[in-house]
Amino acid sequence: MKKLSYPFLSKILKTNIKELKKIIGQKEINGIKYRYPNHNEKKNILIRVLKKINLDTQIINAKYRKKIWFDGWNENKKKFIKTKDKKYLIPMYYAARKEKVFRLDGKFIISDKNFEIKIIKILRKWYAKKYMVKAENIYEFGCGTGHNLVDLNKILSDKNFYGLDFVKSSVDIINSFKQNVGPNFQGVLFNIEKPKVKFKIKKNSVVLTSGALEQLGGKINNFVNYLIKQKPKLVLHVEPAPDFYNLNTVEDELGITFHKKRGYTSNLISILNDREKKKKINIINSFKSPFGSLMMEGYNIIIWKINKKKKK
Ligand SMILES: C[S@@+](CC[C@H](N)C(=O)[O-])C[C@H]1O[C@@H](n2cnc3c(N)ncnc32)[C@H](O)[C@@H]1O
Repeated sequence: MKKLSYPFLSKILKTNIKELKKIIGQKEINGIKYRYPNHNEKKNILIRVLKKINLDTQIINAKYRKKIWFDGWNENKKKFIKTKDKKYLIPMYYAARKEKVFRLDGKFIISDKNFEIKIIKILRKWYAKKYMVKAENIYEFGCGTGHNLVDLNKILSDKNFYGLDFVKSSVDIINSFKQNVGPNFQGVLFNIEKPKVKFKIKKNSVVLTSGALEQLGGKINNFVNYLIKQKPKLVLHVEPAPDFYNLNTVEDELGITFHKKRGYTSNLISILNDREKKKKINIINSFKSPFGSLMMEGYNIIIWKINKKKKK
């Protein structure tokens, strides 16, 4: 098995090693081991992915999906409130990655079943320390169980955390954190597709979306306009997007095919590019998902700010 190294991590996070070493400890990267599949394993992975694409029937943003989200997070809510054990905040879809096959720097790798959970922690610490330290408030839209916020609170405990979602079971989990995690949490019911303009984002805030805009089937235009009006200090997306697949590899071709078949949001980058062209925002960092799951790359990083320069 290979070990994750600082030079490799700095390449996939587009961050220099010196800066990275200040943020991520040796112990954290030592915990990640992986190997590349051999010829026969790779053939079997490709067959498995193709079969999954052919058999998959999920339609993103279909009406029936809201109940699925509600029921899923309700299961987490019951277990978490009963036991107070934070392991019940880990969404089941991570825990269910039994195949142990993931993507790293665009290539299939074999690791242990917790690879994705461990490397997400590294990614989260990296963006928290690099982009969130000076903010007073963190808002996560489409926050699910709030596991990102709970982990961010460990890294940045002086912030106020707002978790927003369109299902009540998620909002209930976030509000339960006031008793179980800290008084600095608040859950809010919010539909990204129809943003409540009355809901104000406080001054000096960072907005996070992580695998949330993907769920809107492209209906994100109003939300981007809402954010621009609210003028947060920074917006950080961790989202899949077809734009980042380079299509010269079988991994990327399969990823984009799966993305399109399910109907995940495909227009985030074009909308942000349009707003940048209109001088409303500045995209300050954007790069391809450093890692991914068997089927796709869901962790592209896109970071933008309001353009404060007045148009001439
Ligand atoms: C894939 S989960 C991601 C959850 C969390 N951000 C994470 O990183 O684990 C997608 C989340 O988006 C929420 N969601 C889907 N459509 C939404 C909408 N129209 N408005 C607000 N939240 C929505 C779901 O309830 C779910 O919590």
